[in-house]
Amino acid sequence: MIAPSILAADFSSLGSEVDSVIAGGADWIHVDVMDGHFVPNITMGPNVVSALRPRVTNVLDVHLMIERPELYVEAFIRAGADIVTVHAEATPHVHRVLQQVRALGAQAGLALNPGTGLDAFESVVDDIDMLLVMTVNPGFGGQAFLPNTLRKIQQARQRLDAAGHQNVPIEVDGGITSSTIADAAAAGASVFVAGSAVFNRVDRAKAISELREAVL
Ligand code: DX5
Ligand code: ZN
Repeated sequence: MIAPSILAADFSSLGSEVDSVIAGGADWIHVDVMDGHFVPNITMGPNVVSALRPRVTNVLDVHLMIERPELYVEAFIRAGADIVTVHAEATPHVHRVLQQVRALGAQAGLALNPGTGLDAFESVVDDIDMLLVMTVNPGFGGQAFLPNTLRKIQQARQRLDAAGHQNVPIEVDGGITSSTIADAAAAGASVFVAGSAVFNRVDRAKAISELREAVL
C-alpha cells in the first residue's frame, strides 16, 4: 500500500494535489498532524481532514504527532479519519486512547519513534489495527531513511505474527523512496508513507508506480 503524505504537497492547492495522487494510484492519503510540541513543527488540524474527506475516495490515514492525542482523536474521527495513529511517547494513557479510537469507529494505529523500543507496544498488541514504525525522527519531510529501523520492523513483524495478528500491517514513514522501500518491505512493512518521493515529482502516477516496482 502506497500512502502519499500531504506534508510534502503544495499547501496552496491541497485539493488538487490530493486528486493528483489518488488519480496516480495512491492507496491511502497520509495526513501528518504536528502540534509544535511533540515535534518542532506545526502543520494542520481536523478542519483540513474534513475539507479533504469528500474528495478522498480511499483511506484517510491520520498520523497524530501531537501531545495528549486523547484530547483530539474524536475531532479527527468526526472530521472523517479512517485510521488514527497516536505516538506511544505522546501520552501516559496510550491503552485508553487506542480504545477510544476504536470506540469512535476508526482503526487504531500506534506509532513508535526511532528511539522507542518494541516493548512500548507489547502491552497493546491486541488493541491496535496497525503499527507505524517511524523510519526518521518525526517533524519534517525529506529526511534520510534510518537503516537501523529495519531490524525493529523485522522484530515487530515477528511479534505481531506470534501474537496471531498476521493481519495487522506495519506502516513505515520517513525517507521512503524507490531505493529504500524494498528493504522496508523485506523487513515486513506493507504500508509505505511517501511524501517527497511522490510530491516532489511532476508525474505522481510515475512516482507511485516506481515505488511499487521497486518492491517487486
Ligand atoms: C515526519 C513525517 C514525514 C513524512 C514523509 O514527521 O511523517 O516522514 O510523512 O516524509 P518523506 O517521505 O518526505 O520523508
Ligand atoms: Zn506520518
